[in-house]
Amino acid sequence: MKMTVKRLYGTYDTQSDRKITLFGWVRNHRPQKAFGFIDLNDGTYFETIQVVYDKSHLDNFEEIRKTRIGSSLRVEGSVERTPDRPQPFEIKARNIQVVGDSQEDYPIQPKRHSREFLREHAHLRSRTNLFTAVFRVRSLLTHAIHKFFQDRDFIHLASPIITASDAEGAGEMFQVTTLDVDNPPKSGKTVDYSKDFFGRKANLTVSGQLQAEAFAQAFKDVYTFGPTFRAEKSHTATHASEFWMIEPEIAFADLRDDMDLAEEMVKEIIGYVMKHAEKELAFLNKFVEKGLLEKLESVVNSTFARITHREAVEILKTAERKFENAPSYEKDLATEHEKHLAKHFDAPVFVTDWPKHIKAFYMRLNDDQNTVAAMDLIVPQAGEIIGGSQREERYDVLLRRMEEMNVDSDELQWYLDLRKYGTTPHAGFGLGFDRMLMYITGVANIRDVIPFPRTPKNCEF
Ligand code: 4AD
Ligand code: MG
Repeated sequence: MKMTVKRLYGTYDTQSDRKITLFGWVRNHRPQKAFGFIDLNDGTYFETIQVVYDKSHLDNFEEIRKTRIGSSLRVEGSVERTPDRPQPFEIKARNIQVVGDSQEDYPIQPKRHSREFLREHAHLRSRTNLFTAVFRVRSLLTHAIHKFFQDRDFIHLASPIITASDAEGAGEMFQVTTLDVDNPPKSGKTVDYSKDFFGRKANLTVSGQLQAEAFAQAFKDVYTFGPTFRAEKSHTATHASEFWMIEPEIAFADLRDDMDLAEEMVKEIIGYVMKHAEKELAFLNKFVEKGLLEKLESVVNSTFARITHREAVEILKTAERKFENAPSYEKDLATEHEKHLAKHFDAPVFVTDWPKHIKAFYMRLNDDQNTVAAMDLIVPQAGEIIGGSQREERYDVLLRRMEEMNVDSDELQWYLDLRKYGTTPHAGFGLGFDRMLMYITGVANIRDVIPFPRTPKNCEF
């Protein structure tokens, strides 16, 4: 019977005497004179399985004895319980076939490799304990997020990946074109984009929010889950050029509802991962972030702090320590500020009501005419994992804000239209999926939670 390591760990006590077949890769191999031990991993489970073989049962004993780390094998054998050893059982092999031999220069040896080395071998690093853990948690987290929203009757929409608008108004977009960039068609001195594929200039999306807003005005509660692209030249541990974002949008809702949703989501998805990735989190807790489990447990049971940007700056101004960037009521928070606040509260903290000129055009103007109904959720290390706001639902105010911020209102007439036909107070946020994963796994660099990361000057694999 074809078996997986995961199924075996669940059922080994009922498997004695049955012949099973396993397929997997050699993680470790300890050959002796007349027998040997192979740690086999088949990808279905964090743990490996110990396969014991001996000369008397294998005709190809000499070949198997030379099996290198990384080789793929087919193993036939039976389960033997080993109650006095750390592993509860092992496989007594009766037949082993090499499916694919691994060459001598296989880079992933059973020892500690640096993260940098593993990034250079991103096509092989998923075969290490660390990346097995991180990428299984990544997969589980995807499911947890869909489940969270689907359980609450949110409609999922696939927002477009190619767009003609700059949703964040930050101008950090990758252009998409089929024009010959060495010799583009011109009208006068400028490139004639009417000849381009879409008949206009297009780019990869920086956010699916604007389209989600359109859907929220039909379905009330909606969310996107997709890749977004930013051509920021930020060389930090938390910025990637291609990252995934989840963007819920809720109608008939304000900033407080938005924060309530974000808080509930963060707690529930962490709880889901804790329940379904016990082995992986235990490993990460031991080798990546000491105290990770305790941190996650406390987040699930905490109430997130909520402070205004003004209050945040007050905390920073009265802090004992000096900052490289002086905190200011008029300015964005720097990474060092976020770090300080996260530490100060020792829990995730929402910072709300930001100065309007440092935030996007679509955020709802507060009555003070100076701040907008925005919120960022800040956590230790990963920094800002969520950015959101209540949206400006008043046609005239939105139009004025677009003009103030030099956003082309002709291009976004469809977006303004939503305020003409049954507008509602509504709000939403963007969860940075990869940063959330950093927070849950304790992994300090975004390059190590993305399967094949893209960052400035790096598009390998
Ligand atoms: O704060 P941001 O730019 O907000 C938006 O894009 C809004 N349209 C969201 C909304 O209200 N629907 O991005 C949202 C989140 C950030 O909080 C951060 O976690 C993540 O996306 N993020 C990045 N993650 C990795 N690499 C980057 N370069 C990122 N830029 C933003
Ligand atoms: Mg932001």
